[in-house]
Amino acid sequence: MPVTALVSAKSSGVTTSALALTLASKRPSLLAECDPAGGTVRAGFLEGEVTAGYGLYHLAAAERTSPDALAQAFASHLWDLDEAGHRKLLPGLTDPAQAAALTRTWASLAEVMQVLADDDGHDVFIDASRLAFDVFIDAGRLAFESGHLHTTLTPAPLLHQADLVLLVVRGTEQSLTLARHVIKPLRTELAKHGSGSDALGLLLIEDGPNRAHRVAQVLETPVLAGLPHDPATAAYLTCGGNQPRNYSRSPLLKHARTATEQIEAVVSRRLIQQQYPPRPTNPQLAGVLQRLSAKRGRRG
Ligand SMILES: Nc1ncnc2c1ncn2[C@@H]1O[C@H](COP(=O)(O)OP(=O)(O)O)[C@@H](O)[C@H]1O
Ligand SMILES: [Mg+2]
Repeated sequence: MPVTALVSAKSSGVTTSALALTLASKRPSLLAECDPAGGTVRAGFLEGEVTAGYGLYHLAAAERTSPDALAQAFASHLWDLDEAGHRKLLPGLTDPAQAAALTRTWASLAEVMQVLADDDGHDVFIDASRLAFDVFIDAGRLAFESGHLHTTLTPAPLLHQADLVLLVVRGTEQSLTLARHVIKPLRTELAKHGSGSDALGLLLIEDGPNRAHRVAQVLETPVLAGLPHDPATAAYLTCGGNQPRNYSRSPLLKHARTATEQIEAVVSRRLIQQQYPPRPTNPQLAGVLQRLSAKRGRRG
């Protein structure tokens, strides 16, 4: 399964889109809220149901102890978004000041994400099906420092190690103008430190006058998936509250499901074409899978 990181040049719908993809995927899925500026799902969609005792921040201390401690902490800090435990959330930071503590943790976390998405080489089963997650990372807003991804303001190693990095843009002139400035440094960064410059694609929120063809042309980057402008469903995913009517058949969730298929197809194609070597993972981190199969996450 792919590990997909979502980013923006300026708030564009990264969190909402990542949540929609996670909830809509046909496969077991995980949303890792890794925006250094802070997570919003806890206070928004989950309406404060998850306390600050859970989440990303607590993984920093575990990582400093050992890979095994990190694997254990990761499994115990996930929150189930559905009854069956097939959709999981790693809640994000509650305070942007916590981000500095994670600078050293991102690289190990990137390995954990790979392990969770890896459907080869593991014989761990849940409900008789192989445990591999469609992983979506909310990596927040991009920030550069001397042409490189900022080491505190972005989770750079997660972007380097992702199978796909989706820059979320809207079809508005403002969004395209801002995106134009980050495309080049991001592409260079992925060419140098990631799996190649074609790991970068666009996720278009269909808002504003520019359609996919034009957006791809202006930004010289393929639009790999599109999500409709659907304010009612988006507001529910952003703020929680009453579920809108026809929620599960809403345009946003329907297209999000299609988008997860498109993402998987693109990643599979890249793997076949490029045959970039599988990344070595620390065997102790692989223990996170056993832990997830042994335990069910918590829900309120
Ligand atoms: N597909 C969409 N259609 C309509 N509104 C959207 C859509 N996606 C996001 N939004 C709205 O845009 C705002 C910003 O979304 P959010 O996901 O928080 O952005 P980011 O994480 O990039 O800061 C929110 O009010 C959200 O409801
Ligand atoms: Mg966000």
